[in-house]
Amino acid sequence: MKKNPTHIPLITQEGQELIFDNLTNPRIVSEFINILNQIINSPNKNLILNFKNVKATFPNVSVPIAGIIENMSLRGINFEFYYLTEYLKKLSVKTPLRVQENKELAQKASLDKIWRFDSADDIYLLINSFVDELSHIIVCEKGVLEGFEWSINEVLDNVLQHSSRSFGYVMGQVHPKTKHFAFCVYDTGQGIYNSLLSSLVHKPKTPAEALKLAVKEGVTRDKKIGQGNGLWGLHQIVSENTGILNITSNSACYNLTNNEFKTFDRVPQLPYDNGCIVDFQIDYGKEISISKALGGYEPVNLKLESLEDNSGNINIDLHSKESGVGTRTSGEKIRNELINIYKQSSKNISLDFANINIVSSSFADELIGKLVTEFGFYGFNNIFKLKNMNSIVQSIVQRSVAQRMMESYNGNVEEKSNETTPDIEKPS
Ligand SMILES: Nc1ncnc2c1ncn2[C@@H]1O[C@H](COP(=O)(O)OP(=O)(O)O)[C@@H](O)[C@H]1O
Ligand SMILES: [Mg+2]
Repeated sequence: MKKNPTHIPLITQEGQELIFDNLTNPRIVSEFINILNQIINSPNKNLILNFKNVKATFPNVSVPIAGIIENMSLRGINFEFYYLTEYLKKLSVKTPLRVQENKELAQKASLDKIWRFDSADDIYLLINSFVDELSHIIVCEKGVLEGFEWSINEVLDNVLQHSSRSFGYVMGQVHPKTKHFAFCVYDTGQGIYNSLLSSLVHKPKTPAEALKLAVKEGVTRDKKIGQGNGLWGLHQIVSENTGILNITSNSACYNLTNNEFKTFDRVPQLPYDNGCIVDFQIDYGKEISISKALGGYEPVNLKLESLEDNSGNINIDLHSKESGVGTRTSGEKIRNELINIYKQSSKNISLDFANINIVSSSFADELIGKLVTEFGFYGFNNIFKLKNMNSIVQSIVQRSVAQRMMESYNGNVEEKSNETTPDIEKPS
């Protein structure tokens, strides 16, 4: 009677058809690998993947599954897809999106998609897009965006440097309810154990030992190529944030949760292309001290530096914003971006309205009105400076701010329990 729920398969196999229960439980990846191991040795190499039950996906499941499908297709297994919903199509679970062929999409909407990167240029473009998009849709505490940017750079670069393949897969996703974002990187290369075995210094005895070594400071397969800071730094940053880190490579898995680590062995593997999965989740409502995490090292924030004028203030040229000054969505995006810039830099910010003839009232409300209620009138005045506003824009902003302040005042007085602070963490 007492059946252990972990033994109920999450992929139901009916002949050549595989019915996926979900794409959110990482156990699915292991089950999929076990099934593929049988198929490789059987005469019928056709598989039907049925996604009729899939309502949502997490990166740590969909990224490896998509990477495995793409690579097993090249090794003679034919996949057919049933019930590939619009959502799964957009995600590109069937054929991960190539960065070079989808540059515009990458720059506009990089999250919730499975990307295949093939070069350092692809990595650069993707990381800029991830950071931009995150800073537009959520408000991150100090150090979060910088810590993320540093970490994802290291993990993606590791694929090109160490995996023995020239490509990998990545996806990011925001969970506004729990204030987390999750990223997963997968490659179909030699894996961390094999890579460290090639080193003259480190000789891990098992794949699990290799993972414990790889996250240590200074451990690299070759001092001429690396310094051994990447996985150590990622581990430190996740740990500073009490986030979650999973590294699965060869037959082992390393898990860090609540600042306690565990390793598992006997993770199912394919006979080739075992690769490496690095999956991490960051609580963006929780500050990360980068210099504490990285032992005093503070990465230079080139993006912030490029926004600074001669006197060290941040200057935002609203006219150059692609989303424009006409919509509520654009106002919300720019507001989130400004709050993130302020949290990262604690610097004064000038909003330059030069060359803007008119703004919509909803844009003004979403940007200025809500910034005033977020920081308070006094706080807003201390942080922000509005410049080069023509008289029409001035009167539109004036009206929006007055209304917003009135509303927030009334809301606070009449219904204390009814929060009037803008819902800044909700993606539009
Ligand atoms: N995707 C990967 N595939 C294979 N080996 C990897 C991968 N990522 C990391 N490694 C191994 O882990 C070691 C430590 O990585 P890291 O801490 O980033 O240091 P570095 O890149 O400076 O060597 C690497 O030297 C390499 O042996
Ligand atoms: Mg590295």
